[in-house]
Amino acid sequence: MNHNNTLSLAVMSGKGGVGKTNIVLNLGYALQQAEMTALLMDCDLGLANLDVLLGISPEKNLHDLLQTGVNAEDVVCEIEDGFDMLPATSGVPELVEMDEDMQDILFKKLVNLAGEYDYLMLDLGAGISHTVLSFASLTQLRIVVVTPEPTSLTDSYAMIKVLTTQHDVKDFLVIVNQATSADEAKQTYERLAAACKNFLNIDLRNLGFIHQDRTLVESVRRQTPLMKFAPQAPASLDIKALAKKLMRYREDNRDRIAGRPILKDFPSL
Ligand SMILES: Nc1ncnc2c1ncn2[C@@H]1O[C@H](COP(=O)(O)OP(=O)(O)OP(=O)(O)O)[C@@H](O)[C@H]1O
Ligand SMILES: [Mg+2]
Repeated sequence: MNHNNTLSLAVMSGKGGVGKTNIVLNLGYALQQAEMTALLMDCDLGLANLDVLLGISPEKNLHDLLQTGVNAEDVVCEIEDGFDMLPATSGVPELVEMDEDMQDILFKKLVNLAGEYDYLMLDLGAGISHTVLSFASLTQLRIVVVTPEPTSLTDSYAMIKVLTTQHDVKDFLVIVNQATSADEAKQTYERLAAACKNFLNIDLRNLGFIHQDRTLVESVRRQTPLMKFAPQAPASLDIKALAKKLMRYREDNRDRIAGRPILKDFPSL
């Protein structure tokens, strides 16, 4: 196996609509601006929307990648220099619950391409479907996106519990999104961390938080990523800070990353 420099992350949440897709996209921008390379994979296979946030209509998507003769290079599409994405597709029901054979085809085709980037980020659908859980157990690390709403907290806890107890996955970073203050973000993180420590005996890591920011809502309407639309908006500055922390994490864990495959069970050639 090659020496691996790619940090793979799955971005997930218990509850839907908490901001995963916007976070993946804008974190990707922030990393690119810091001269890192990133590949985003839209894994919300039932309701793809990374392409919608970018206002683009990719020619090929992950559904095409399942066909013989189609390679990852045919499907990947450039967002910016060194910042690419693999689009999903909406309305193809068999992709929502992918069976293991389909996952096998997909990831075998993807893993070598992924190895060319500093970061691979999977934007997952919400909830704890079989596909979400199996994708989330493949990556080296998971980012759980939570908001201060009580339902978001309980759903995130439930998701972490299933992954920990049934999939033996224990590495989680947390981003608190849509916080109205640093205090609220801290309380939200601490509640989730305390429940995970007390009942599951695992330690979460706090990556940081993103302010609730109407500029982000406006950027979605304009189909322009927030980092491009308003680079100085409060949420943009928060996301830049998160990207810095992620870069530090990657640096601090270089040896661990090098020792692990990018995607578990899919060694690169
Ligand atoms: N920091 C924020 N400030 C204000 N609004 C936000 C913020 N983050 C997300 N939102 C709102 O939440 C909406 C949903 O965001 P997004 O599509 O990224 O969520 P998601 O978790 O990917 O949803 P799904 O579970 O459906 O995939 C955005 O369109 C925006 O209106
Ligand atoms: Mg989404």
